[in-house]
Amino acid sequence: MKISDIRKHYLTFFADHGHAILPSASLIPENDPTTLFTGSGMQPMVSYLLGEPHPRGVRIADSQKCFRSQDIDEVGDNRHTTFFEMLGNWSLGDYFKTEQITWMFEFLTTNLGLDPKNLYVTVFRGNSDLNIPRDEESAALWQKLFASKGIEAQIGENAEQDGMKSGERIFYYPEKKNWWSRTGVPSNMPVGEPGGPDTEMFYDFGSERNLHETSIWMNEPCHVNCDCGRFVEIGNNVFMQYVKTETGFEELKQRNVDFGGGLERMAAAVNGNPDVFLIDAFAPAIAELIQLSGKQYETHTHAYRVILDHLRAATFLIGDGVYPSNKDQGYFVRRLIRRAVRFAHQLGIAENVCLKIGATFIAMYADTYPYMLSSQDVILAELEKEEKKFQQTLKQGMKKFVELLVPDGNKIISGIDAFDLVQSYGFPVELTEELATENGFTVDMETFKIEKEKHQALSRAGSEQKFKGGLADHSDMSVKYHTATHLLHQALRQVLGDMVVQKGSNITPERLRFDFPYPTRPTDDQMKHVEELVNDTISKKLPVHFEMLTLDEAKTRGAIGLFADKYAEVGDKVKVYFVGDEAMGNSFSKEVCGGPHVSNTSELGKFQIQKEESIGSGLRRIKAILT
Ligand code: ALA
Repeated sequence: MKISDIRKHYLTFFADHGHAILPSASLIPENDPTTLFTGSGMQPMVSYLLGEPHPRGVRIADSQKCFRSQDIDEVGDNRHTTFFEMLGNWSLGDYFKTEQITWMFEFLTTNLGLDPKNLYVTVFRGNSDLNIPRDEESAALWQKLFASKGIEAQIGENAEQDGMKSGERIFYYPEKKNWWSRTGVPSNMPVGEPGGPDTEMFYDFGSERNLHETSIWMNEPCHVNCDCGRFVEIGNNVFMQYVKTETGFEELKQRNVDFGGGLERMAAAVNGNPDVFLIDAFAPAIAELIQLSGKQYETHTHAYRVILDHLRAATFLIGDGVYPSNKDQGYFVRRLIRRAVRFAHQLGIAENVCLKIGATFIAMYADTYPYMLSSQDVILAELEKEEKKFQQTLKQGMKKFVELLVPDGNKIISGIDAFDLVQSYGFPVELTEELATENGFTVDMETFKIEKEKHQALSRAGSEQKFKGGLADHSDMSVKYHTATHLLHQALRQVLGDMVVQKGSNITPERLRFDFPYPTRPTDDQMKHVEELVNDTISKKLPVHFEMLTLDEAKTRGAIGLFADKYAEVGDKVKVYFVGDEAMGNSFSKEVCGGPHVSNTSELGKFQIQKEESIGSGLRRIKAILT
């Protein structure tokens, strides 16, 4: 089966069970201050899990593009990728454990044809301190389903310490493994964040299996969660029924199901080969790399995997409008491309690898994501440009490196110099080490590591700060900024024209950020006018309300934000937020949006534009605050 078959089977299965099928949202989250990238299928669903009505109903399914930047360094083993597609289905206060677990078992064993003997599952052990019970209901459901296939599935209590005993197939694990929220374990969750116990499904690739690696399957004791790679998690059913409070946990208004399963890993299971890089999605790229390098995947597995993963991720990220840069999301695209180029050098490919491999991915995904094909020229041009820039950087780094080769007797390159090469020239430390060896030098890696850790600690502190701020005030300041964003959007259109559309929005409790296309720098007068319009609207104390409208009605009534790819089906209802009231003759803005918003503009305070700047590619960015 190809990934396109599996994706189709999954979406058809859930459509047949009454789910509305949504197209994938962008890799860049909208109105979500908590993270730079969409890293799971549930991220675009958060407000609906918390109780906002979803315009498409209470059963939703999709295949969501995801990017997990924290996995960059994991890439190289048989199953980690930074970019992947997550098959997802959600019950928004509708069905719960029985349906979800039964459907999943049916889908995996019947529709994908996986042998139930190779399936293992984990369930939540419970935690009395948190007052969250052990999930015996899920364990019993799994037992019954395995029994229906003639398999007696015994329950393992302590596999992480004792290993798995013969006959055991269902395992209790603590919250470290069987609890899911965007921020991980309960103790890491900020107040207001939803989460819940989960039950995960693993595919057993067999104890005898050995890949190109010789070290694999070596963990003792081996158990489904031991990470040796024999058991690969293929799906996670989260019973999202709790919300964190000041004192512990409370039941959410509704009991939700949040399922996420890695499309590529499911394909690997169907293939019976635990190497996700050997699924069809990578085949044309592997063929191209063999062509370019004359080297084989089997003998250069690590380098191949890094190139394959990183260039697929970079291609998709650029497709969603993130261009390589030194900031925010763009920084990751730069890092992915540069790392891929470096590994291509290891394979002996001197140039043009990004463009050629990127093209194979665009072709591979063109049917599912037609926009990738229509933006092909831009994507390939960005890939090529960044590769060239990096070659240039390497040359400059090389010059600097040569200056460090001072035969002072010690023949040591200091850790500080090595780190400076990384920081200032993007010159990878592995390369410094290699070149040092060639010249009879060594690199003081101890000091290098200390320098690097110092730097990492600084940037981690920065992002934790951002993260905490973002979520802690979820229901208050962020909501105000969300409404202010609607006002700004409309005001910009009135002043600059209808070409202004939201290309990106990012909100923290401290400010809003709004990106839109505009070919020149707006004048100071224009910006002042925009600010006045927003403040005028605030002082008019306009009511804010939403209505559920069909796409046609929304259009007729002049709503903006009708992204065709988001609400694909004509006839379905969408949620439209109105600032002001048409009937009262004071309507200001109408915008398709999931919410939430304040109920009256008077709640916003004073609006102030702090900065207006170009962010390249014809896009402008505004940062504004409420005081
Ligand atoms: N949101 C869950 C996950 O990402 C399904 O694992």
